[in-house]
Amino acid sequence: MNLKLKIWRQADAKSSGKMVDYNISEVSPDMSFLEMLDVLNEGLIEKGEEPVEFDHDCREGICGSCSLQINGEPHGPDRAITTCQLHMRRFKDGDTIYIEPFRAKAFPVIKDLIVDRSAFDRIQQAGGYISVNTSGNTVDANAIPIEKHDADRAFDAATCIGCGACVAACKNASAMLFTSAKVSQFALLPQGKVEATDRVTNMVKQMDLEGFGNCTNTGACEVECPKGISLENIARLNREYLKASVNLD
Ligand code: FES
Repeated sequence: MNLKLKIWRQADAKSSGKMVDYNISEVSPDMSFLEMLDVLNEGLIEKGEEPVEFDHDCREGICGSCSLQINGEPHGPDRAITTCQLHMRRFKDGDTIYIEPFRAKAFPVIKDLIVDRSAFDRIQQAGGYISVNTSGNTVDANAIPIEKHDADRAFDAATCIGCGACVAACKNASAMLFTSAKVSQFALLPQGKVEATDRVTNMVKQMDLEGFGNCTNTGACEVECPKGISLENIARLNREYLKASVNLD
């Protein structure tokens, strides 16, 4: 396949960026999207040009680092997959593909297609954990029976890989789906009840401090989430937050 790529190039966080055109030929339909970018970069390096910077790590849909806006959609046209799982067979010979970084004030561009998503880390650090005594007397988590329905929903929430597609898809750049998944995975389990009030209060506070927008129930986040994190988690986050507000007074 021969393709025209329109790629966002930006030298650093302070520079203004622009779309740059590239032509790429002999793209195999079996290549992954990131392999196609690898081939583009090899060609640029051979010509003595700067390669396009993009984030990736596992290339298996696990780490959440390969966050690209492809033809206006986070992770491209397919549902429930990450950019690294997208294959070139999804495109046609002669197509023009627009490739941009995730756009959100709280995700500043570091270079080209790489954005700084450390805001998510800070939300997580604000309460997305449980405090456990690991001095050798740790109680086996499996010692506490959990109702199957709750265990399944907690597991579903825990599959969030923190890629930021929810933020990129949202017209308000809201991080509610991410935060709600991180709150839900604990809220549904007895281990999470102990610090529930502080957790939800501190995580929501940090989310607001980072400059993410509000949720207006559009649902684009759920549609674009590569892990299918449900809006049901946002409803749970709101309930947890209300409960915590009452408990604090
Ligand atoms: Fe890890 Fe894509 S590179 S999810």
